[in-house]
Amino acid sequence: MTQARRAPEPVAQPGPATFAAFEAAKGFMPADEGLALYGAAVRAARLGLPLLEVGTYCGRSTLLLADAARAADVTVITVDHHRGSEEQQPGWEYHDPDVVDPHSGLMDTLPAFRRTLHDAGLEEHVVAVVGRSPRVAAVWGGELGMVFVDGGHTDEHATADYEGWAPHLAQDGLLVIHDVFPDPADGGRAPYRIYCRALGSGAFEEISVTGSLRVLQRTGPGI
Ligand SMILES: C[S@@+](CC[C@H](N)C(=O)[O-])C[C@H]1O[C@@H](n2cnc3c(N)ncnc32)[C@H](O)[C@@H]1O
Repeated sequence: MTQARRAPEPVAQPGPATFAAFEAAKGFMPADEGLALYGAAVRAARLGLPLLEVGTYCGRSTLLLADAARAADVTVITVDHHRGSEEQQPGWEYHDPDVVDPHSGLMDTLPAFRRTLHDAGLEEHVVAVVGRSPRVAAVWGGELGMVFVDGGHTDEHATADYEGWAPHLAQDGLLVIHDVFPDPADGGRAPYRIYCRALGSGAFEEISVTGSLRVLQRTGPGI
């Protein structure tokens, strides 16, 4: 007797205009990870709940979340103080002098983010919150369909993002973590440590690995 097999789910793709905008935007996420993020956002958006991003920067990854949110009529909440992470400050590898505000002399990625979203016609689907992630998490009350962690990459920041936002993730919601490097030769390991903690909690199961992007699904309560 032959057993009926479920056909694999077709891989979701962002609209070509959004993907072109993603590729043109300032940021650090390669295309394969962007497509995996988009697929996760499409899946999470089916829960009908907001999709939360920590680490907006200039909006590169936000574009993909917004495209998925538009199709499902949900909202992206993206949180950033827009002053840059440690490794983006002057003298560090990821510093970009074009996003320094001449008035304050500090990094300010908010104007570039606004241009990115405006030019892609996706402003309507995104609520940008300017502030420190733990402060925003402390006043956030609702359930989330997705938590995408791509903010500060020190243990202090990654742990605060995990502890602040993961408790808001609904059952079946997706926890997506960027820059997960099991081998310290590939990069800092704070995101890897929160990824291990999530898996070790018994509250999450891994559903995909693409480059340094890990997608976990909530399978039970707790963090
Ligand atoms: C790696 S970038 C985000 C890249 C973006 N997701 C993309 O793919 O284009 C990290 C961002 O996190 C922000 N950030 C770092 N620590 C933060 C914190 N504690 N609260 C809010 N934003 C923070 C920085 O300002 C920076 O813009």
